[in-house]
Amino acid sequence: MQATARAQPNIALVKYWGKQTGGNNEPAVSSLSITLDTLWTRTHVRFDPQLPSDEFTLNGARDPAQARRVINGLEMMRNLKGIDTKAAVESENNFPTGAGLASSASGFAALVTAVDAALELSLETARLSSLARRLSGSAARSLFGGFVELWSLRPGEQESAAKPLLDAEDWPLEVVVAVVSEEAKVIGSTRGMELSRETSEYYAQWLNSADYDMEVCRHAVMDRNFEGLAEISERSCLKMHAVALATQPGLIYWQGPTIECMHRIRQLRDGGTPVFFTVDAGPQVKAVCLPGHASAVAAELDAVPGVKRTLITGLGPGARVVQEG
Ligand code: DP6
Repeated sequence: MQATARAQPNIALVKYWGKQTGGNNEPAVSSLSITLDTLWTRTHVRFDPQLPSDEFTLNGARDPAQARRVINGLEMMRNLKGIDTKAAVESENNFPTGAGLASSASGFAALVTAVDAALELSLETARLSSLARRLSGSAARSLFGGFVELWSLRPGEQESAAKPLLDAEDWPLEVVVAVVSEEAKVIGSTRGMELSRETSEYYAQWLNSADYDMEVCRHAVMDRNFEGLAEISERSCLKMHAVALATQPGLIYWQGPTIECMHRIRQLRDGGTPVFFTVDAGPQVKAVCLPGHASAVAAELDAVPGVKRTLITGLGPGARVVQEG
């Protein structure tokens, strides 16, 4: 009744921002992401009849903020098994939590994968993706590696799940993460999306253009068209932030160095370096580039005042069970 799983965060190139109102954490827009390689969450789950209640630690400390969702995840999967046994969940990240690096994505993808193995449910990956999505929308995508699509619910479908589009090896892009701040964001994605739906004047246009952006992006991926991918990814990112900025109160996830990095990346691209930026609900900048360019891009971003450090990663596999403790 125990298992360990590992999952990597993913970065959306076409962004998820907004939920449908019917519950179940169904995204209001489709999204397309890349799963990363060297950043990871490792989660060990142990079901134990002696435990009076579920326990959750992140990096060795209790984390009440995330515990609620972890317990929801345990409940969902215990119901599938028809048991009531409580569990101890120990999770560990090798990257900063809560600062726009999508720790919830890798965290919940690792959780559902570990619980599936511990309870011997043997669910299909698409089903695990759906379960992870209920806990955090972006987590649905970390069940798969490489390039991943998450289409919003189509008529007749019960639940949305992510699906793989292209393997990491088939277009091994590189990503440089410029870390601007390691402090947790003030308004998290869940609350931010809710506020945007309720108050942002740009929200309706955002929903209307989402499927078109998905089509453009998936074609750029399938054609290995980097210039096309750069254009659509930066546009989706900037549109998402426009929606956030027009929210009441205005959600400003950027800091000064975030914008400096975006300018620097545009200059590099103008100068012939194949690189583009994307930014999530936090100040970190992710620079996506063609293979072989990450070191040079990292050196440029390290030189931007206010950048604390850079991390380099390739694209990696989806969530999986591992044998370590
Ligand atoms: C800006 O998956 O964190 O990173 O479903 O409420 O848990 P919840 O939201 P979450 O949102 C991620 C938003 C984003 C864009 C993206 O990853 O697509």
